[in-house]
Amino acid sequence: MSTIEPQTAHSVINPKMTRVLSGMRPTGWLHLGHYHGVLENWVKLQHEYDCYFFVADWHALTTHYDNPQSLAAHTQDMVIDWLAAGVDPEKATLFVQSAMPEHAELHVLLSMGTPLSWLERIPTYKDQQAKLREKDLATYGFLGYPLLQAADILLYRAQLVPVGADQVSHVELTREVARRFNHLYGKPLDAETVQTQAYSNMGKKAAKQYQQWAKQYQQEGDTEALQQAQTLLAASGSLSALEREVLSGHLTGSGRVILPEPQALLTTASKMVGLDGEKMSKSYGNTISLRESPDAVRDKIRKMPTDPARVRRTDAGNPERCPVWNLHQVYSSLEVQQWVVTGCTTAGIGCLDCKQPVIDEINKILAPMRERARPFEEDTGQLNTILKQGAARARDTAQETLKEVRQSMGLIGRWSS
Ligand code: TRP
Ligand code: SF4
Repeated sequence: MSTIEPQTAHSVINPKMTRVLSGMRPTGWLHLGHYHGVLENWVKLQHEYDCYFFVADWHALTTHYDNPQSLAAHTQDMVIDWLAAGVDPEKATLFVQSAMPEHAELHVLLSMGTPLSWLERIPTYKDQQAKLREKDLATYGFLGYPLLQAADILLYRAQLVPVGADQVSHVELTREVARRFNHLYGKPLDAETVQTQAYSNMGKKAAKQYQQWAKQYQQEGDTEALQQAQTLLAASGSLSALEREVLSGHLTGSGRVILPEPQALLTTASKMVGLDGEKMSKSYGNTISLRESPDAVRDKIRKMPTDPARVRRTDAGNPERCPVWNLHQVYSSLEVQQWVVTGCTTAGIGCLDCKQPVIDEINKILAPMRERARPFEEDTGQLNTILKQGAARARDTAQETLKEVRQSMGLIGRWSS
């Protein structure tokens, strides 16, 4: 039997209490692949949950420690694109990881009890090392990448973590780290004192009744007695939150949950194709960025390769062999798609005709984004204010967690200046 976390209990009633957290490494300008793959989802989530979205600039340094020049510009450009896409700083808490040294403190504290083998066996560790072979990634920081991510998540006690499939193993590690932490430190160092104090706060009669029920449950497995003991605890207004937790942990033999285990919220991979028919990706140079001008969108799509069989306007084609068709599947209504299939296979339309609805639709989506981005491009002061306010909000939550983490690890902070 596990006790229900107060947070969880609330979140069942009110999803706004459920915390969602996700980070993105600062890559600079974002493109339509990021929009359909990630940002569209963030924009939706921010209306439903208590969302924290942050720029993982320390994570960028784990692989690009030798090239920090572009970090600040990439951070800025990326956050402008979040805002352009409709992420709303009034609804979600937006911040930059490096503005929050709390992540580093939790990372170092978690590192104490994390076996090296847990990190070494994570698939991304070897995969990325092999992929980025030109870099020396036999570093301490790179091995610790997933643990830093665990700290990001646990610092805010996030329950849901939207990530792509490649990141699921990191959330899994986070759960293991949290479980181990709660096991090691979930029993307060001074549990005995707290318990004695709690009994005296409850009043003699209630304390005696409570202990009797507790014994009935612990020795005879009487679940009715357990329920009555729990009801009594919940109803006893004179107990502090800590006292209640200690007693309830003692009752069921479980410790306190200091760091709740999060769950991955799997984002289905975006099927966005790039201008060449490959997956849209900055490294392939086949992207349409979120702040692309209408003319650039038109020119890029007009230059897209089509079915190689359509050499002349009069040659019939096959949409299945044409990357433009992938875009129609994302952006066009069924009627337009029907028009494409008929027109292409009968040579009834030319490729430029075929591309026009896609150009129009993408520009329709990007128009409000360009609009929203403009004030931030002109005045980055506003952007900085948003990120500072986000950091302040995040700090309140982070400090609350850290206070408990420090205490439970015997760090009483008596000597800080
Ligand atoms: N590692 C993630 C990625 O590469 C980014 C990230 C860092 C993250 N910290 C996080 C995602 C915490 C979710 C939660 O995409
Ligand atoms: Fe591609 Fe459209 Fe040209 Fe057919 S008509 S080859 S689908 S661009």
